Amino acid sequence: MAILVTGGAGYIGSHTVVELQNAGYDVVVVDNLSNSSEKSLERVEKITGKPVTFYKADILDRDALNAIFDKEKIDSCIHFAGLKAVGESVQKPWEYYENNISGTLTLVDVMRKHGVKNIIFSSSATVYGDPAVIPITEECPKGQCTNPYGWTKSMLEQILADMQKADKEWNVILLRYFNPIGAHKSGTMGENPNGIPNNLMPYITQVAVGKLKELGVFGNDYDTPDGTGVRDYIHVVDLAVGHVKALKKIEENVGLGIYNLGTGVGYSVLDIVKNFEEATGVKIPYVIKERRAGDIAACYSDASKAKRELGWEAQNGIKEMCADSWRWQSNNPNGYED
Ligand code: NAD
Ligand code: WQD
Repeated sequence: MAILVTGGAGYIGSHTVVELQNAGYDVVVVDNLSNSSEKSLERVEKITGKPVTFYKADILDRDALNAIFDKEKIDSCIHFAGLKAVGESVQKPWEYYENNISGTLTLVDVMRKHGVKNIIFSSSATVYGDPAVIPITEECPKGQCTNPYGWTKSMLEQILADMQKADKEWNVILLRYFNPIGAHKSGTMGENPNGIPNNLMPYITQVAVGKLKELGVFGNDYDTPDGTGVRDYIHVVDLAVGHVKALKKIEENVGLGIYNLGTGVGYSVLDIVKNFEEATGVKIPYVIKERRAGDIAACYSDASKAKRELGWEAQNGIKEMCADSWRWQSNNPNGYED
């Protein structure tokens, strides 16, 4: 039996395929390559020494999905496929709702028609909105999202939970990621954003490699220790391992499971700059800018539920996250285009 990984050529998906193969799972990847390169899967194969079965297909394409489910023996699905750029989602809400929501509805319909009722879904800390309490536990109420991307995650959580409630044959695990950064230790796989990065770490690594002049720090007047935004950064390989642990939980017939995947530690933007400089020896020039619309002051997890119930805990600290991000970027200044 195989695990279907949608969006498996992407940043988190490709790292998860490595950990799944290393744990002995057969993997089938479906990705339309709208935000990724097939080269990531060649790198996966180099690392694990095992072939990846890959279908270039869109999760909105019911016929393509039916053909894949008819051919492959799929047991469970880890569902990463989706559009994820917050700013773009404000400009193109219809495209985000169509891709993320209609895509997931099509996927789960094909799954159930093939008797496959195990799914792990990539959710996000963004569903908490501006959190009522920090550190954030899974019991913290979901909040108002500030953008359509966030709403797709919030709505899909509701849809999947409702399906599981109505049909107890479903096992649904919602994983709420905090801020994934870092890269595989080999330096051959990592994040590969299109154009100018929106997220902090890829922006920093592109300043470090000389592609961008300086970092803009979005606001230094937040109610945080140094005034800059605080987040819970988590190494992408730790996150990937979290999916393998979640799969074990699915195999125990969990029903519905909701887990934060974070470290439980918050770092400010300036903490990240300092740690990056210390880990790599590369100076990051920065200027303070206006706050970015939609940003919140602080967001970090209480990660104890995943530890208790999944036996999962992040292993990499901030220095390793910085060093690994830098190894990938400096070895591959143009990402998978090199
Ligand atoms: P990514 O863009 O690198 O990976 C997503 C993959 O899905 C890409 O390879 C893309 O080509 C593919 N895809 C998109 N739409 C598709 C479709 N209709 N059919 C088939 N494939 C499609 O992003 P990522 O950072 O690896 O994120 C993976 C998942 O985790 C996403 O659902 C994202 O929303 C979620 N997430 C990411 C973060 C983050 O900060 N990176 C945080 C929380 C949640
Ligand atoms: C981190 C901190 C910025 C860039 C986003 C999504 C969230 C989730 C993860 C998917 C903030 C500051 C950033 C820069 C800066 N994605 N910053 N200069 O906003 O916490 O989360 O990615 O689900 O939904 O919103 O991550 O990396 O963009 O920002 O000062 O050039 O760095 O203000 O405090 P964010 P980020």
